[in-house]
Amino acid sequence: MILVTGGAGFIGANFVLDWVAQTGEAVVNLDKLTYAGNLENLSSLQAEARHIFAQGDIGDHALVASLLTQHQPRAVVNFAAESHVDRSIHSPEAFIQTNVMGTFQLLEAVRAYWGGLASDTKANFRFLHVSTDEVYGSLAATDPAFTETHQYEPNSPYSASKAASDHLVRAYHHTYGLPVLTTNCSNNYGPYHFPEKLIPLMVVNALAGKPLPIYGDGQQIRDWLYVKDHCSAIRRVLEAGRLGETYNVGGWNEMPNLDIVHTVCGLLDTLRPRADGQSYATQITYVTDRPGHDRRYAIDASKIERELGWKPAETFASGIAKTIAWYLDNPEWVARVQSGAYRDWVDTNYAARAA
Ligand code: NAD
Ligand code: TYD
Repeated sequence: MILVTGGAGFIGANFVLDWVAQTGEAVVNLDKLTYAGNLENLSSLQAEARHIFAQGDIGDHALVASLLTQHQPRAVVNFAAESHVDRSIHSPEAFIQTNVMGTFQLLEAVRAYWGGLASDTKANFRFLHVSTDEVYGSLAATDPAFTETHQYEPNSPYSASKAASDHLVRAYHHTYGLPVLTTNCSNNYGPYHFPEKLIPLMVVNALAGKPLPIYGDGQQIRDWLYVKDHCSAIRRVLEAGRLGETYNVGGWNEMPNLDIVHTVCGLLDTLRPRADGQSYATQITYVTDRPGHDRRYAIDASKIERELGWKPAETFASGIAKTIAWYLDNPEWVARVQSGAYRDWVDTNYAARAA
């Protein structure tokens, strides 16, 4: 079996669902269930013996050690993190605690477990760390896309904390020989995406008749990948990645934020037209920019394609259509994630942004 951390969050839950469906191998899922963790994402696994859930913190060394001893996983995949840039600007401490200290404690527990394995199991063990393209910083309009050798230039507390965790993972390979793999992926979208992030926030606000808040001029560029393609990339790296290597993961799909929001509005206009016949795009509102806002991210995913034969299955057009359909088909999920805590966050982040 494998141990996954953060498997009740957006990408982790998609990974666990696909893992059980496609590999048949059991998975232990360690998740603290912060505001971003939602067991409802995994409700289809309720009667599934191959999914074992444990609530807890990756920074709890004793808990991680006991899970490793009890379940003897052949691999650990680390998704657990604080993941939202705007929250990292308002309250950075949790990012340092989980992404830096938590990853450190997790690495320590895994190192002790791995060190005690018999030689063949030890040789086959893997620690896969899931990271982001944001560690590379911001690109100018004509710069080439990020390759794995691009220098680290993190600009937000979130990306700085992820960069620190990547460095720790690298150091545990270099110093202790821990068999690690790191993936640095671009922006994901798809089912179970928490509506604090751009695409699900726009869907939820559009349907509720609320403003669609565009930070700054809306011309910031992100490189979007359908979440299930990220999950297939992680499975492939786990299976065949070279030890100690990092793999950039992306869908060759750079788009300015404003184009993304217009695409979302266009799909909603077709699938769930507004009662007054107007486009959801009329709800677009320009608001104060994010401090230190990175202008452009772009991933060069040629290494993972060349070495491991991985390519995304979805185009942006097919992935975003599936995503919008999922949100329209799951109104209960959408309603339940907008709890009191979610409303508090929306007030904190948007009330101070002048339109
Ligand atoms: P998310 O915020 O939706 O989920 C994070 C999960 O981790 C939640 O279930 C949360 O409860 C759990 N968690 C948080 N702190 C924890 C702790 N201390 N111990 C145990 N569990 C804890 O995030 P996501 O978007 O699913 O991202 C998952 C990973 O992928 C993160 O490491 C993130 O940096 C990385 N990543 C995300 C994207 C993206 O576009 N979302 C892109 C590239 C990389
Ligand atoms: P986000 O989904 O928070 O991901 P990240 O900051 O990790 O790339 O934001 C994606 C882009 O959308 C980013 O450039 C910020 C912008 N954005 C808005 O314009 N308005 C919003 O309300 C949000 C949440 C994001």
